[in-house]
Amino acid sequence: MIRVAVAGAAGRMGTMVCGAVEGTDDLRLTGRADPQLGTDVAGVLGDSDVLVDFTQPDTALGNARAALEAGVHVVIGTSGFDMDALREAARDARANAFFGPNFAIGAVLMMRFAAEARRHMQAAEIIEYHHPAKLDAPSGTAARTAELMGGDVPIHSVRLPGLVADQDVILGDVAQTLTIRHVTTDRTSFMPGVLLAVRRVADLPESPVVGLEHLLWPA
Ligand SMILES: NC(=O)c1ccc[n+]([C@@H]2O[C@H](COP(=O)([O-])OP(=O)(O)OC[C@H]3O[C@@H](n4cnc5c(N)ncnc54)[C@H](O)[C@@H]3O)[C@@H](O)[C@H]2O)c1
Repeated sequence: MIRVAVAGAAGRMGTMVCGAVEGTDDLRLTGRADPQLGTDVAGVLGDSDVLVDFTQPDTALGNARAALEAGVHVVIGTSGFDMDALREAARDARANAFFGPNFAIGAVLMMRFAAEARRHMQAAEIIEYHHPAKLDAPSGTAARTAELMGGDVPIHSVRLPGLVADQDVILGDVAQTLTIRHVTTDRTSFMPGVLLAVRRVADLPESPVVGLEHLLWPA
């Protein structure tokens, strides 16, 4: 039984993660940390093997550091924090860190196909669409897609009610375009990926590992 605590447990994603963990037979929810619940991360680490963080860009790193220093593995879904600082924090830690820029398996496939298509077409642009409460722009997924495509890919960010998290990658070449589109209709789309990372984080070959693709297609 893997003991799992959730940081951001009162938020949109954290609430779903708590429910998803409770719906499994091999994971046990041992803590819900969130200022809205009056519980902090330090208070839930003692009972946990893994901390899942879906908080805010300015709190994710501090939570990850606290977990790693306590020997608790951390799975981070929060976007917009300093990756170099996470690498530094993870370097000599006895626990592992995993960061998933996007936990939706379809989005990971979109990124892989986009990287492949970029090798064959002249130019590309990315349009990412999210709900208006999203704090960072561009999204972590769009930035990661552009990185996997070799950089130099303009990103456009749309924030509108009615959206969850969608992305189009549009590639252009002589008299043709190719659009690779990933659409999410609900935040449950992220749960299989989050649970996979929770189950695998203790056995990572290095730390931090960035991207669900490393768990779906191990080298
Ligand atoms: N990687 C992915 O697949 C993925 C998918 C969706 C959202 N996200 C990211 O997840 C993050 C959370 O998104 P959301 O929509 O759930 O946000 P949200 O605002 O609904 O929830 C964030 C929660 O974190 C809590 N919080 C703030 N500081 C905290 C701290 N120090 N310790 C513990 N909890 C704290 C807040 O009170 C809030 O309840 C965002 O960065 C978002 O971009 C990532």
